[in-house]
Parts: sequence; C-alpha cells; structure tokens
Amino acid sequence: MFELPVDDEITLVLAEDRHARVMTDLIVRNQARLARWEPWAEHPATLESTRAYIRAALDDFARGRQISTIITVDGGRRFIGRCGMRINPQLGSGDIGYWIDEEYEGRGYTSRSSRALISSVFDELGLSKVDLRTSVGNERSRAVAERLGFTFEGILPRGLQFMNRADDVALYAVTARQWLAAGKPRENVSQRSR
Ligand SMILES: CC(C)(COP(=O)(O)OP(=O)(O)OC[C@H]1O[C@@H](n2cnc3c(N)ncnc32)[C@H](O)[C@@H]1OP(=O)(O)O)[C@@H](O)C(=O)NCCC(=O)NCCS
Repeated sequence: MFELPVDDEITLVLAEDRHARVMTDLIVRNQARLARWEPWAEHPATLESTRAYIRAALDDFARGRQISTIITVDGGRRFIGRCGMRINPQLGSGDIGYWIDEEYEGRGYTSRSSRALISSVFDELGLSKVDLRTSVGNERSRAVAERLGFTFEGILPRGLQFMNRADDVALYAVTARQWLAAGKPRENVSQRSR
C-alpha cells in the first residue's frame, strides 16, 4: 500500500501484516546464507515470528523510529529482499540494513534500493546522518557501503553477537551534506500510495 518507487524496476513496499507469509517464505529460502551475517536469522523463521517482527516494526514506524520495507520487482508483485532504516529521532540519524534473495544477488538491487531509502530519509525526514554496520568479513555488504559512498569510520570490536561467536563490526557513515555533495539526491523517487 505505502511505497517508495526506486526506479522503473524496483519498488520498496512498507512491510505490513498481510506480507508475513511471503516474507517468511523468502527468509526460509535464504535462512542459511542470512544466518551467516544476521544474528536474527540464526532462529528459523516462522509465520508467527515474522508477524511479530512486522508488528513491532509498524509500531516503530508510527513513532518515527523505523522504516521497514520489502524490496519488490514486477510492479510490487515479486518480493526479493528487505531494506530498512532504524531511526534515532534524538540524534537525527539512521542505521540502514538490507538483504536480498540469493537469486537476485549481484544485480544492483540492494545498492539501488538503499540509495533511494537514504535519499528519502535525508530529503523527507531531514536526518543528518546514516550509519551502516556490517561484519568486518562481510565483503559483499562492505562493497555496497563503499559503492554508496559511505565513509569507513572504524571497527567496533565484537559489535555483533551471534549464538556462538561475536563479529567485529565495520562502521560506515554518510552525512546528508556528503550525500548531496556526491550528487546522490533522489531521482524519480516519491512516496505514493495505491
Ligand atoms: C550483502 C548483500 C545484501 C548485497 O546485495 P546485492 O544485491 O548483491 O548487492 P548489489 O547487487 O547492490 O551489489 C552490487 C553488485 O551488483 C553489480 N551490479 C549489477 N548491476 C548493478 C546496478 N544496476 N547497480 C549497481 N550495481 C550493479 C555490481 O557490479 C556489484 O557486483 P560485485 O559485488 O560483483 O562488484 C547480499 O549479498 C546479501 O543479502 N547477503 C546476505 C545477507 C547480508 O549479508 N546482509 C547484510 C548484513 S549487514
């Protein structure tokens, strides 16, 4: 219902309760590869766990603390991943997260989706900074950060806790000023409902 068009191929759709089944199926299909880098994915997804996540994310959305979207293609009919932003209203900052279905990896869907969401939170919400945290060893995710023009800010030792290990985290950030200076303002991106 509530969407952020990215380009003529991708639309970000705000996750709602009615998407729980298809989101669960998508997570289950990717569970093992997601669990390598995302602690929440170490627990097998169920319809109930996805529902609980979506409801909590919608509560946060209402409080201006989170935007949790599904990456879709084919006019919003095919769900291929997630792209979301946790927001700290006091600091005026966001923290972006994403993952993509294995079948769609390496085709720019994550980079393009992230670029649109970041532009939107700078333009529409007036945030001043977006952070991106990923395991030091997650080369694909670090490549997304670097492709988007984030600055590497340092390592957070043992910043990501998994069941049986803690990963050092690479912290990246981009400010609204840097984003505009780098010429990444929103193109063809406007919120609409259908
Ligand atoms: C990390 C992850 C999200 C990256 O997603 P992705 O969709 O493969 O990333 P992108 O496609 O945007 O990356 C760009 C790649 O696509 C290519 N590409 C193709 N078309 C492109 C386009 N139109 N625009 C940008 N890049 C394009 C780029 O050349 C690049 O390839 P390379 O990595 O071989 O250099 C994905 O690997 C994933 O889901 N991993 C598992 C979970 C995870 O790690 N989540 C992140 C936790 S912080």
